[in-house]
Amino acid sequence: MLASHHCHIEPRVTSNSNLKNFFSKLPKAELHLHLEGMLAPNRVADLARKYNVPLDPGEIHRRFDSRGFAQFLELYKWATSFLREPEDYARLAEDAAGGLRSEGVAYAEVTLSVGVMLLRKQDVRANFHAIREVFTRSHAAGQGPRVQYVFDAVRQFGPEPALEVIERAAELRSEGVAAFGLGGDELSVPLADFQPVYLQARKEKLRLLVHAGETGGSQQIRDAIDLLGAERIGHGIAAIRDPNLMMLLRERKIPLEICPTSNLRTKALNIQLNAADPNIQDHPLPKLYRAGVPVSLSTDDPAMFHTNLTGEYFQAHQMGLAVEELLRINRAAFEQSFLADNERRTFLAAVDKYLFQSER
Ligand code: ADE
Ligand code: ZN
Repeated sequence: MLASHHCHIEPRVTSNSNLKNFFSKLPKAELHLHLEGMLAPNRVADLARKYNVPLDPGEIHRRFDSRGFAQFLELYKWATSFLREPEDYARLAEDAAGGLRSEGVAYAEVTLSVGVMLLRKQDVRANFHAIREVFTRSHAAGQGPRVQYVFDAVRQFGPEPALEVIERAAELRSEGVAAFGLGGDELSVPLADFQPVYLQARKEKLRLLVHAGETGGSQQIRDAIDLLGAERIGHGIAAIRDPNLMMLLRERKIPLEICPTSNLRTKALNIQLNAADPNIQDHPLPKLYRAGVPVSLSTDDPAMFHTNLTGEYFQAHQMGLAVEELLRINRAAFEQSFLADNERRTFLAAVDKYLFQSER
């Protein structure tokens, strides 16, 4: 529920640099964020050195300049191949906590590619505890966001490994693992094959997420909802091609986690708009939002897409969304989050306090 009595607040934002400053300090929630996608090029260089993998800076730069979805998945696979032990993940979490704090992210649902950890025969529990320790400590010290975790399986690996991801998630639910998700290549294995997987996740009282309608069509989103019971959709921009689905998302209050820069970089936008060279201003976010589809704004893989959450709000403003609309979207992210109601209220009160202060 959006508290309508806040909506008169229109802060004095008169220039782009004021706008960026205003949004960077606004307490924000980020719901679609892969920890591994926060691995910066210089950290890949550090890890390559640690593991005696010869790497020239040109290669790192070239790979981090990926365009298109296949190239992006290749980058993701390659970059994560340098994350080999819990301390590597801890270091990454340090960078992530600091980065999120510096751009005003008060709350994050951080996705861990547990499917990838399992493929590499890593100790998921040990990795998780290393990551969690960092985020918990930095949050307690006022140096990082409050975090809950999403354990992600990889679509192209199929249902069997996904069940193992759920086992790990279920063991760690009391330690902040709130949800199970499915990422990777949505054109690989059909969602119907994951029905038993999502039944199991539901039985374990995990919240249910699915990447769908990013590079795939709107039927992927329908399947995520009808076959798997998805509570939020990762990306979901294919909905713009399916007005009936947009109505369904609105009526059933199923939010889309929108990641504009990611969509541009992976060329998901080219696919969904059937356009050769789309601009960020062509992104369907304003249309989805104004049609009443619940949305939030996220970065997906900020290091790999060279973005941050403040940048995404700025991009959304470039798409024509007014400051007031962007503020509603930020509130909606907290509303759509897997926070308990008492904590949600505390965060929303902090948002109100910031807006009140910036009024004067
Ligand atoms: N894993 C990390 N980012 C992803 C994305 N944008 N789509 C699918 N899987 C992902
Ligand atoms: Zn993602």
